[in-house]
Amino acid sequence: MIRVENLHKSFGDLHVLKGIDFAAKKGEVVAIIGPSGMGKSTFLRCINFIERPEKGRLEIDGVRVDAESCKEKEIRAVRMKSSMVFQNYNVFKNKTVLQNVMLPMLSVQNMDKQAAQERALGYLEQVGLMDKTNEYPSRLSGGQQQRVGIARAMAVNPKVILFDEPTSSLDPELVAGILEIIRRLAKEHERTMLIVTHEMRFARDIADRVLFMDGGVILEEGTPEKIFSGPEHERTKRFLDQLK
Ligand SMILES: Nc1ncnc2c1ncn2[C@@H]1O[C@H](COP(=O)(O)OP(=O)(O)O)[C@@H](O)[C@H]1O
Ligand SMILES: [Mg+2]
Repeated sequence: MIRVENLHKSFGDLHVLKGIDFAAKKGEVVAIIGPSGMGKSTFLRCINFIERPEKGRLEIDGVRVDAESCKEKEIRAVRMKSSMVFQNYNVFKNKTVLQNVMLPMLSVQNMDKQAAQERALGYLEQVGLMDKTNEYPSRLSGGQQQRVGIARAMAVNPKVILFDEPTSSLDPELVAGILEIIRRLAKEHERTMLIVTHEMRFARDIADRVLFMDGGVILEEGTPEKIFSGPEHERTKRFLDQLK
């Protein structure tokens, strides 16, 4: 379903991703953990081409691009295959909840307005926001804004959904509700999910596989059982110990 080969990304002199190799099957739920500043967000952003990697190959659902040589048209095609849920929700403040969820369907997918609205309402119902569809984000809690972010990401019907620390901007009492929504989506096993998170218990619960990122590479990966109970690398151990 998704394959990443030898992905590199730098910001000026800072070489953040130093050759990421990764693959996941349809429906697989992959948790990504690791210290701050090690490129977890950059990795997700490169998959969605919010950042352009300077080297490497990416393939999602049969659409393949080479970062060094790809054209705008190919980038657009591969971008349509994934969507992202951001740490800070990234909702448009001047648009209503319903308009926020409809926007990518209209602007990226050129969907018919009626169809987009129906689909948006379906996902807003799934995330429990039917009573807020005409509200503006400033009148919503962080948890509700993140529900909008999740509905918006789902509505484009992506093959791969990328969650970048979806609960780390939330007040503690709002975290559980968002984790529950993600847990439900994960159980459907229809979409491949990549979830960067610091919620270790959650990662252990829902992930089929856990990746530990450090030093610009995937240092170690395995089942939650292996990573959390018997990590091989000293750095993985140290990272997990320090969270205890
Ligand atoms: N747009 C950017 N411009 C310059 N440096 C960036 C940019 N985005 C991220 N970085 C740097 O890249 C490194 C990795 O960042 P990030 O991917 O956000 O890490 P993580 O998500 O693991 O905390 C950090 O040193 C960060 O400061
Ligand atoms: Mg990050």
